[in-house]
Amino acid sequence: MTQKNTRNFAIIAHIDHGKSTLADRIMEQTQTVSDRDSKAQLLDDLQVEQAHGVTVKSRTVRNYYHADDGQEYTYNFIDTPGHVDFTYEVSKSLAASDGALLLVDATQGVQAQTVANLRLARDNHLVVIPVINKIDAAAADVDRTAEQIRALAPEFATVEILKISAKTGLNVHDVLEAIHTRIPAPVGDVKQPLKALVFDSQYDAFKGIIAYVRVVDGKLTTADKLTLMANNQTVAANEIGIFAPQRVATKQLSAGDVGYVVTGLKDPQALRVGDTLTSATTPTATALPGYQPSQSMVFAGFYPQGDHYHDLQLAVEKLALNDTSFHYHAESSDALGAGFRCGFLGIFHLQIIRERLHDEYGLDVLTTAPNVTYRVHLKNEDEPVIVNNPIAFPDYAKIDFVEEPLAEATITTTSESLSDVMKLATQHKGELQDMRNQGDLVVLVYQLPFAEIAYDFFNALKSVSHGYATLTTELSGYDIADVVKIEVHVNYAKVDALSFVVHREDAPKVAQELVHKLKFVIPRKLYPMPVQSVVEGKALARVDVPPLRKNAAANGEKKSTSKKQALLRRQSVNKRQAAHSDIELPQEVFNAVLDLE
Ligand code: GTP
Repeated sequence: MTQKNTRNFAIIAHIDHGKSTLADRIMEQTQTVSDRDSKAQLLDDLQVEQAHGVTVKSRTVRNYYHADDGQEYTYNFIDTPGHVDFTYEVSKSLAASDGALLLVDATQGVQAQTVANLRLARDNHLVVIPVINKIDAAAADVDRTAEQIRALAPEFATVEILKISAKTGLNVHDVLEAIHTRIPAPVGDVKQPLKALVFDSQYDAFKGIIAYVRVVDGKLTTADKLTLMANNQTVAANEIGIFAPQRVATKQLSAGDVGYVVTGLKDPQALRVGDTLTSATTPTATALPGYQPSQSMVFAGFYPQGDHYHDLQLAVEKLALNDTSFHYHAESSDALGAGFRCGFLGIFHLQIIRERLHDEYGLDVLTTAPNVTYRVHLKNEDEPVIVNNPIAFPDYAKIDFVEEPLAEATITTTSESLSDVMKLATQHKGELQDMRNQGDLVVLVYQLPFAEIAYDFFNALKSVSHGYATLTTELSGYDIADVVKIEVHVNYAKVDALSFVVHREDAPKVAQELVHKLKFVIPRKLYPMPVQSVVEGKALARVDVPPLRKNAAANGEKKSTSKKQALLRRQSVNKRQAAHSDIELPQEVFNAVLDLE
């Protein structure tokens, strides 16, 4: 297949607007998959994706299309995730594409991620084909959606907007035709030295690291010795191939092609997504620009249950290779021992990584309460300390002031839900920056502490808006905040892994709520255990976890008072001797922190 007849494109949209369904239809209509295979959605094959009904990983597939002009084209498409926590995954895919299908659900119209993904596509200079999907749905408003799309970008004022049903296949043929007529062929030069962008990777138990590449210049065969340009590491091309949609080996990949290389590397940390692969014998002079590393917004500790530290280490290394927006480093806590501090793009991302550890590696991890990054300015120090673990939050006596991250949150909602949504944003310390109408919808822009949206804001927003409101967030900077660390003491001993940071004004309420929740989830001992929330050295709240025993006082009516007292004495132990290290911390204990309002 010539480069002239190749098209590389991504399918982008707001969550649930139908990307994976359209991808399935394209594979079906190009006979990439048999009808039998196409019955089930083919692309979202991770267990987490099926469980949540969302795409988490981008998928690349090569299709052959016999066009109406009599020619055969190679279509390499990348199906991308729609949830805001996986935007980094979308940006990587766009760097490997020349065009994008921008899907908009006719029942919902233009949404926050439609706008955000269009912006990413334009940043990558891609030709964007606007497509209205779900025109078969009873609630579809095709004209209004078309109007909204035209208002999005000047180039949409004149282009034809395609109107399809990915579900029934109606007009999907128009999409297939538009791809080769509107999206340009790749421009690389096959005669130049090899230059290939590593846009994704995967760890295979048998083959080691598999790099997903877009060949920009030159060609690649299994006879080549290759170099990864970032650290000048030589690698093999043990096998090369394409995605159809499973991996299928080929003899060659050349300029414009998208495919994979089995590198032979076994160390999951040896390859960096965004690196440039070139020939070891005739290397290219300049590497491709690669990607900006993603910035973690939410952090939490992952600790192995039982004796599985090493297994967890291997699993997080391999997951980080497959998901470059997931970061980790080793940490330890007195209460939980050795584990990892992990960084995520949002709370849904955290949940997905936990589930992937379970599904793909058979590991259940203890997860500490998530937190954001604080800049703590110490007295008599010029540079702030960057704290993304509450355990490491400096002693309050040493702190001059603290800065916390702020988010700019864009919320799109219906006018019926407007007042409830505004109330919710205000409860979360949101300050309204802008409010405008977009068709029948209202777009609100708030500035609020990132920590306020890091936990449950998204679910609360869905709930008050009956599922209609959408949210995108961006880090908008740091600002001074009066925050304090809440420590939890069980039986007078600090349990470091339960520490977290809150605004001072919220501390008394949160401290009370927390101990009352902990009372029911901290496993009981034979002796009563006080549980305290301590802020700046003072206990703000206390409850007692009752002992695990028959209540001698209650059940011993027939016993004499002195016998009752003797029994109580035997059952109680010296509270100071009860080492905190023997307190078990099941996941429910951390959930008590997570569930705080
Ligand atoms: P994410 O990748 O998670 O962002 O979702 P997606 O954009 O890939 O959406 P997906 O293809 O999973 O579709 C979401 C829902 O919309 C599913 O229930 C589909 O069956 C439905 N859907 C997709 N296309 C159409 C369509 O043309 N008409 C109707 N009526 N429903 C559709």
